Amino acid sequence: SGKPVVILGVFVADTAYRAARQPRMGETILGTSFTLGPGGKGSNQAVAAGRLGADITFLTRLGVDPFADMARRTWAQAGVKNAVIDTPESYTGAAYIFVEETSGNNAIIVSPGAAMLISPADIEAHAGLIGSAGVFVTQLEQPIEAALRALEIARGAGVTTILNPAPAASLPERIYTLCDYITPNETEAEELTGINVSTIGDARRAADSLLGKGVGAVIITLGEKGALLHDASRSDHVPVVNAGPVVETTGAGDAFNGGLAAALAKGVEPLQAVRFACAVAGISVTRPGTAPSMPTLQEVDALLAD
Ligand code: RIB
Ligand code: NA
Repeated sequence: SGKPVVILGVFVADTAYRAARQPRMGETILGTSFTLGPGGKGSNQAVAAGRLGADITFLTRLGVDPFADMARRTWAQAGVKNAVIDTPESYTGAAYIFVEETSGNNAIIVSPGAAMLISPADIEAHAGLIGSAGVFVTQLEQPIEAALRALEIARGAGVTTILNPAPAASLPERIYTLCDYITPNETEAEELTGINVSTIGDARRAADSLLGKGVGAVIITLGEKGALLHDASRSDHVPVVNAGPVVETTGAGDAFNGGLAAALAKGVEPLQAVRFACAVAGISVTRPGTAPSMPTLQEVDALLAD
């Protein structure tokens, strides 16, 4: 199972509505289906890593309510250990997910609830856990100050660090030098660099700009164009791994980041780790939901052996 992976982030309940289009302000339309399931970027990444057999611990805050029970059930089923700070004064968050019927594309509102209360002091209380990891991952659904403190502690302990800068936000400049890997999608890369990313050439320019800010390596996920691995000595484009018709792309970035962390924790070299992560994401988009769509190691190995 490799070295331990520790992920800091958010769990929310995903409430997903499929419909032909989004309602306009003041309008009500009929949807074609509704599902309730586990989500939140960090938790999805942890579930992906767990299904892939990683030794994974997820650090977060939860309310004391039915969605918190859903979180614990989800993690238990996926082999994810947790370090939860119970937060009865708040609530376990939820996400509104609109899924466009024809394309499987999505638009999301996420309300993190208790996870918005994760503080630098919480992170310091878990410095031992973070420092003992082989790979540490975080995103931007919880406060950035918490992410920053965790990256500092991980970096100080020689842990490999991955920042998935999602959802898009502007970052304090000093965060970049704490990242061995930064993994924006096209929108997030544009938010961070001001460079519009639609081609692989654009992605290379944005990646160069991020390298200039002090990250070790940049991995830009490019949707149906795959991913770019870019560092001081290479710029390799990795195509998508097609696993069948696309049903829902929500959580594909999380599948990618969970897969990347699991592979790096096993000592897989970066380019192979990106290929593996593309396969994990490739399978996740053929299934509905976010966390429930994460594949097992057997499924990924079978796809890559094809
Ligand atoms: O990345 C997908 C996730 O983003 C969803 O599970 C939703 O909860 C939002 O946080
Ligand atoms: Na999916």
